[in-house]
Amino acid sequence: MKILVVGTGAREHALALALSQDPAVTELHAAPGNPGIGALAVLHPVDPLDGDAVAALATSLGVDLVVVGPEAPLVAGVADAVRAAGVPVFGPGAEAARLEGSKAFAKEVMAAAGVPTADPVVVTDPERAAAALDTFGAPYVVKDDGLAAGKGVVVTEDRAAALAHALACLAKPGGRVVVEDYLDGPEVSLFVLSDGTHVVPLVPAQDFKRVGDADTGPNTGGMGAYSPLPWAPAGLVEEVVAQVAQPTVDEMARRGTPFAGVLYCGLALTSRGTRVVEFNARFGDPETQVVLARLATPLAGVLLAAATGRLTELPPLEWREDAAVTVVVASSGYPEAPRTGDVIEGLADAAALPGVDVLHAGTAAGADGAVLSAGGRVLSVVGTGRDLAAARAAAYAGVERIRLDGSHHRTDIARAAAGA
Ligand code: GLY
Repeated sequence: MKILVVGTGAREHALALALSQDPAVTELHAAPGNPGIGALAVLHPVDPLDGDAVAALATSLGVDLVVVGPEAPLVAGVADAVRAAGVPVFGPGAEAARLEGSKAFAKEVMAAAGVPTADPVVVTDPERAAAALDTFGAPYVVKDDGLAAGKGVVVTEDRAAALAHALACLAKPGGRVVVEDYLDGPEVSLFVLSDGTHVVPLVPAQDFKRVGDADTGPNTGGMGAYSPLPWAPAGLVEEVVAQVAQPTVDEMARRGTPFAGVLYCGLALTSRGTRVVEFNARFGDPETQVVLARLATPLAGVLLAAATGRLTELPPLEWREDAAVTVVVASSGYPEAPRTGDVIEGLADAAALPGVDVLHAGTAAGADGAVLSAGGRVLSVVGTGRDLAAARAAAYAGVERIRLDGSHHRTDIARAAAGA
């Protein structure tokens, strides 16, 4: 099978790594990829947001499947363009990707499907935003309606900060914000594959969104993740499939915009039950790095089955006993003002450790084979082991081998879950 992966981050590196380990995969390509993915796949300098260019590349390469990683190409209709060219694609079309592209739309679908979530107020003017904040009270939850590269959601006790975020979102062309109740309780990410009709859940993971230890500092794209979740209630996955994923997929099909790809269910296990915090229309980053590290079933056939409406033909997924932990190494200044262009050293030393994979997120090739930082989240170091403590030790041993001037990482990823 020939496969083209679209995207540039550690999630796409994790997808490429899993696909490269699948004996059915004979050729792997990436557009545009990154230096880490370049060790596994042929890189093509194609704009991932340009659907016609991605479709033309897929056709010229004769690939059997295109896997679209990030949300921006999905919302821009890249999967539609590839599908229109007759090539199977893993990832929803633009209409279905609105589940991530518009928080207000996602709330509307959840309401229609009876999916448990916080009741929202959608506002388009500053006065209503201020009134909504006062109705809900602290902690304030303000979400930009549209895509905001991980910066769209503010949860704060500070009313002035909440209002400032709302005003900044409203100032954008067509700006809308969603204000809603705060959901207490631990958060869980569950990815559910869909072929437009049927769903197959993967295993739950937990993400660490704040930049600092003990969940301090601003939100980020995600500073680390782990799986399994020893504390998660029995029956959680079945509950989410029955109460959240299947009703959502059914509702999207009923609307004539079937959702095929992966429905990322961001959940809060609140004192009043499981609630959806957000939907995303793609794999999460960095949770994918740990979920795929545990998947024993070869990945290509799984993604192809979702892309071609054949999930029911898939045998049950098999999972490794191992636990997985990933720690993100971020550049100086991330998330406010990431510095780029610094040399990264120690990559090979880290990757040589047992149970360690070093996945590239924001990297670029420099002169003489050097690898440079090229983004806020630079690397995602994945450790696997017989339990979370061993996986955590492997991940942090990898991080310690990496040298990147000014870089930072959280030191408490999976600490509580591992009993460390
Ligand atoms: N880890 C959060 C996200 O992928 O959106």
